[in-house]
Amino acid sequence: GKPVFISRHGESMFNTQGLIGGDPPLSPLGEEYAKVLVDYVQQSEELPNDELCVWSSTMRRARQTAAEIDKSRYVEWRALREIEVGVCDGLTYAQVKASFPEEYRAREQDKLRYRYPRGESYLDIIARLEPVIFEMERQKAPLLIIAHQAVLRCLYAYFLDLPSEEIPYLSIPLHTVIKLTPQAFGCNEKRFKLLD
Ligand code: F6P
Repeated sequence: GKPVFISRHGESMFNTQGLIGGDPPLSPLGEEYAKVLVDYVQQSEELPNDELCVWSSTMRRARQTAAEIDKSRYVEWRALREIEVGVCDGLTYAQVKASFPEEYRAREQDKLRYRYPRGESYLDIIARLEPVIFEMERQKAPLLIIAHQAVLRCLYAYFLDLPSEEIPYLSIPLHTVIKLTPQAFGCNEKRFKLLD
């Protein structure tokens, strides 16, 4: 099958401070990732860029990461936005633990189903990704999806057919392009760390 490339946005200002939620811009390092991602897209033999489609979330850090790629075929999806953390927006995990100890514990006990007050759960993300996956399956051209940690965990698990209980713990590091190529049985995976 045709490959799908997935990447988190470059490092954000919230990432540098360990804050969750928000709609922060890229950090200087994140901006550098946006540049090396362009080089990767233009030069990698993995990727026939003349026909590449680029999808990103509508969040600032994802749009900024996509900004310098030639996007004659570019689509922004609200459905690719990061998990909504509701009342925990703008906090560190330590602050969540201190201010909302019961919420923190509940999430530790069932991270897949736990829904932030006025926010979302991983199961909510899986549900909102359905139209994205439907459209992705119809795509003929290679696709680069620039999104977020929780959202990409869900997409990755879809490709690899992993049990949903594993989803919240999958490793989707920053500054890494993951190439997923569906095979007759399963899915081939290659990771490219573009920046430290
Ligand atoms: O820290 C980056 C981030 O994308 C947050 O915006 C988000 O709340 C979090 O990761 C999701 O990861 P986890 O489900 O492990 O908290």
